[in-house]
Amino acid sequence: MKMAKRIENLPPYLFVEISRKIAEKKAKGENVISFGIGDPDIPTPPHIIDRLCQAAHDPANHRYPQAAGLPELRKAIAEWYKRRFDVSLDADNEVLPLIGSKEGLAHIALCFIDPDDIALVPDPAYPPYSMGTILAGGTPYYMPLTEKNNFLPDLNAIPFHALKRAKLLWLNYPNNPTGAIADLDFFNQAVKFAQQHDLAICHDAPYTEVAFDDYQPVSFMQAEGAKQVAVEFHSLSKSYNMTGWRIGMVVGNAEMVSALKRVKSNLDSGIPQAIQYAAIEALTASQDCIQQHNAIYQRRRDLVIDMLNSIGLQAKSPKAALYVWAKVPEGYTSVSFADELLEKVGVVVTPGIGYGKSGDGYVRLSLTIPDAGLVKGLSRLAEWHKTRARPAIKKIT
Ligand SMILES: Cc1ncc(COP(=O)(O)O)c(C=O)c1O
Repeated sequence: MKMAKRIENLPPYLFVEISRKIAEKKAKGENVISFGIGDPDIPTPPHIIDRLCQAAHDPANHRYPQAAGLPELRKAIAEWYKRRFDVSLDADNEVLPLIGSKEGLAHIALCFIDPDDIALVPDPAYPPYSMGTILAGGTPYYMPLTEKNNFLPDLNAIPFHALKRAKLLWLNYPNNPTGAIADLDFFNQAVKFAQQHDLAICHDAPYTEVAFDDYQPVSFMQAEGAKQVAVEFHSLSKSYNMTGWRIGMVVGNAEMVSALKRVKSNLDSGIPQAIQYAAIEALTASQDCIQQHNAIYQRRRDLVIDMLNSIGLQAKSPKAALYVWAKVPEGYTSVSFADELLEKVGVVVTPGIGYGKSGDGYVRLSLTIPDAGLVKGLSRLAEWHKTRARPAIKKIT
């Protein structure tokens, strides 16, 4: 059997490796507390589930769905964008529902990237931006996100040789894994940059509804001229705790949306219709649940930040998204620190290097852990700090 070369270039997905380590510990009877994956622990609100169950009983929803999604869902998405961001979208040509945003994020590379093409990808970043590029035969050019630059890419630092071959520019705010945010000024600059260099922009925005301290994230589609060069990926996963149902969307530039629809209609058979009805309910019913969830995450964020700072780990309090991005203590890499926490106190954090080279030196803690586990996990971190045996610190070699 001979596998394709593209498989050799593809590292195993970050969380697969972490899940394997957790399973190993659990098999030994050890109790592990995970601040790993960003998967909301709070259930999907009941009104959304009720609509899903009702739709599941309707035989009309037992058949193949339409590739472009239900017209009612596209309309609900367009109206939600209008209410939430004052962005007008044509529901037929500028909106496409997705089987969760991840598949769209990965598949859009097939619309733009030929062998030898480049996609400009933030480092650190959610892995599908670069993996989609690699699977399409292209090459990611990594734009470092540094604390000095508030975890925004320095677009003017991208060298000409990379820009010449670049077709796509990836952005993601509120950001995973750093928790950073961007304002409309930055998005306006990015649109101008894309126009100057003939780039298409993919903005990934699943966390615009997870925000704290009265901060309201903006949409990339609010930037001047955004629709000429960009699409925005969004998702119901984090806004409504619907990761398990797999539903998201892409909106914006009609040509880009149409190209992705063409690829997808050849690859998948759409989103189960009962789930599309649940999504319509989520987008059109009362949005009170969002504030309720955010109050929970904000309280957890404060507990995590207080504990990290009290044990000498530097981490800024994020204004949005589900993550705390903490610096590892001196003498550790992100992997050696994550390994030590797992080995010594049974706490899982995600090593920053899993999101790219510039993520080394950091670990990510997700706030999607039930309160009791979170408190226990934090007290284990305090325990690690107390019993930290100086000679055991692994030096970087
Ligand atoms: C930045 C980012 N984009 C996209 C996704 C995927 O979301 P979905 O569940 O819609 O596939 C995630 C999930 O963690 C994410 O962090």
